[in-house]
Amino acid sequence: MKPVLVTGVAGFIGSQTAHALLDAGREVVGVDHLGGALAAERLSTLSPRRGFTFYRHDLTEMSATRSLFGTVAPSRVVHLAASAGVRRAVEHPREYADNNLVAFVSVCEAARHARIDHLIFASSSSVYGANPHRPSSVHECAARPLSLYAATKIANEAIAYSYAHQHGLACTGLRFFTVYGPWGRPDMAVFAFTRKILAGEPLRLFNGGDMRRDFTYIDDVTRIIMHLIERCPEPPPTGPPSRVLNVGAGRPVSVRELVEVLEQALGVQAVCHHAPMSSAEVQVTHAQLDAPWLEPTLRPATTLREGVGSFVEWYRSFHEV
Ligand SMILES: NC(=O)c1ccc[n+]([C@@H]2O[C@H](COP(=O)([O-])OP(=O)(O)OC[C@H]3O[C@@H](n4cnc5c(N)ncnc54)[C@H](O)[C@@H]3O)[C@@H](O)[C@H]2O)c1
Repeated sequence: MKPVLVTGVAGFIGSQTAHALLDAGREVVGVDHLGGALAAERLSTLSPRRGFTFYRHDLTEMSATRSLFGTVAPSRVVHLAASAGVRRAVEHPREYADNNLVAFVSVCEAARHARIDHLIFASSSSVYGANPHRPSSVHECAARPLSLYAATKIANEAIAYSYAHQHGLACTGLRFFTVYGPWGRPDMAVFAFTRKILAGEPLRLFNGGDMRRDFTYIDDVTRIIMHLIERCPEPPPTGPPSRVLNVGAGRPVSVRELVEVLEQALGVQAVCHHAPMSSAEVQVTHAQLDAPWLEPTLRPATTLREGVGSFVEWYRSFHEV
């Protein structure tokens, strides 16, 4: 069986996807430029595993990316590399343009020349931006992004559609909703709040914590990726082989409730300071989960309490606190 190429493999979702693929006996070739926090630590859990090969590589290098895909000859690509996070894009617009737009075109070009069977890529719930409806459905038009980050993800979906139309490249975009869990991103709420609560530092609660997020546990996400990887979008005549899907728990929880769940799991009271809501943030994210592919066994089932419990257990053992 040909290998699966996972980009952003030293990142949060990429590393856990690679582990799930290896657990299932697949050969994995991981690519990352090692730009993010915890990259070396996550990679060190993968490097010793049988069936895993790593290339340190910057995907913005278009011709080198094409050569790499030619050498690896993967059947499937799971493209998770990107600059992530809505607020950071304000200070680093060029980095987002490079890693989310140039690298995306680079991967699509390399994928079509390597004639891969299926490109799965990360989109985001942030594409729903100023849309008023909740829960958010993939059938709504996503054209009102509230941040540069969200705009790059809408662009990714449009670029993928064009490659499916022009070159027949089968593409699946996954709109992830606030993924959390062991090996998560230090800049995201579950991780950052845990660190601050244990250090006795105050939390900055935007809008008084009155923002709701559809927190989605990492194992539920990797299970869905594993399911979809072998299932390409429908080929013509129903249209180009391109689709976007929501990957969320479908159960939004307020940030204030998240703090309470963390306090219980950690056994420590948080100190909270209130801050105004950033204009890049949406008030509520909530995935509509009505897609026929989402069989009952695939529905994200991990509750916030269970997921936070697993995260805290990992955090304490990783940081020895
Ligand atoms: N974590 C979430 O809640 C969430 C929500 C919505 C969407 N997403 C998307 O899912 C994907 C994975 O997110 P994550 O949380 O694992 O992020 P992450 O920051 O942990 O991982 C991204 C990885 O991509 C790598 N990378 C970035 N630019 C690269 C380049 N030019 N060449 C090679 N490697 C590069 C980074 O070094 C990093 O290791 C991203 O596309 C992100 O936008 C994540």
